[in-house]
Amino acid sequence: MAIEAEGIRKRYGDTEVLKGVDLSVPAGTVLGLLGPNGAGKTTSVRILATLVPPDGGRATVAGYDVAEEPMKVRRRIGLAGQYAAVDERLTGRENLTLIGRLYRLGRAGAARRAAELLERFELTHAADRETKTYSGGMRRRLDLAASLLAEPTVLFLDEPTTGLDLTSRMTLWTMVREQVDAGVTVLLTTQYLEEADHLADRIAVIDKGQVIADGTPDELKRKVGGERLEISLAEGADAAEVTRLLEGVSVGPPATGGDGRTVTVPVASGIGAIADAAAALRERGVEVTDFAMRRPSMDDVFLSLTGHVGGGAETTGQQEVKA
Ligand SMILES: Nc1ncnc2c1ncn2[C@@H]1O[C@H](COP(=O)(O)OP(=O)(O)O)[C@@H](O)[C@H]1O
Ligand SMILES: [Mg+2]
Repeated sequence: MAIEAEGIRKRYGDTEVLKGVDLSVPAGTVLGLLGPNGAGKTTSVRILATLVPPDGGRATVAGYDVAEEPMKVRRRIGLAGQYAAVDERLTGRENLTLIGRLYRLGRAGAARRAAELLERFELTHAADRETKTYSGGMRRRLDLAASLLAEPTVLFLDEPTTGLDLTSRMTLWTMVREQVDAGVTVLLTTQYLEEADHLADRIAVIDKGQVIADGTPDELKRKVGGERLEISLAEGADAAEVTRLLEGVSVGPPATGGDGRTVTVPVASGIGAIADAAAALRERGVEVTDFAMRRPSMDDVFLSLTGHVGGGAETTGQQEVKA
């Protein structure tokens, strides 16, 4: 195990922020720590990265106990925090050489490593510009590059793509994948099920300081019920009848919302379910105004695991699905 945590507890004042978190990450794999705002993701990362001590439990990272041998842990890890930690008044190249010098790579060594990382993270064209002119995606890439300066074997990424557009997120995902292919163990936190699904070998779902589910992305999605078919009905259509018509394609309990005008049914993925559903509705002449497949959102995960919707304020665009 590259990361192993057992019963980690942390309290801030009266608030118990972590209530006994267990995590284990085999070397060379990716664990996605998925949870809404305030779940305890950053606190977990900070404890594993030796930045704050736990109040209870124990953890080893890269084979060393975080409480007993923090220096040995630090030498083997990289961390890209939730907010990109780049110095805005320095250029990209200066940011990286500065960190290289702090790692004692020497002037030439730091310059060489900086140039290499700038190239790998597609920042060479902007290397000599102040980073305050960088886009969000560029900052994140530079931050990721900085976390890799000392060639860590274990990498912590705290919400590496929150706030980025889809193209920048996908670029970052590719870059993280490259690290994993090179043998680095990654623990990444995210509020996006899609991101964990894309990158992680295993996902641990954290809510209110506790891991409430863990498994492979497929296991988790099976629990949550795969894709959903969402049908908006024209005025006058009978939702109960539609639900009945769709019994053959649904793989879980249907939900009716939006004043009885929206029917959502979990279906098996693939085009078969869509075709069958469309045919069933057409045969009966049911009028629909919208007909869409949608992957389970973060809200669906939390709804099925906990019976409540996660507190994530940044899951914009997914709020309307709870009806
Ligand atoms: N230094 C701190 N002092 C007091 N409360 C904190 C501190 N750090 C985090 N918390 C609280 O702990 C909870 C978990 O925070 P955090 O680990 O940042 O969650 P996440 O990263 O999942 O959003 C939140 O309720 C947060 O307000
Ligand atoms: Mg956080």
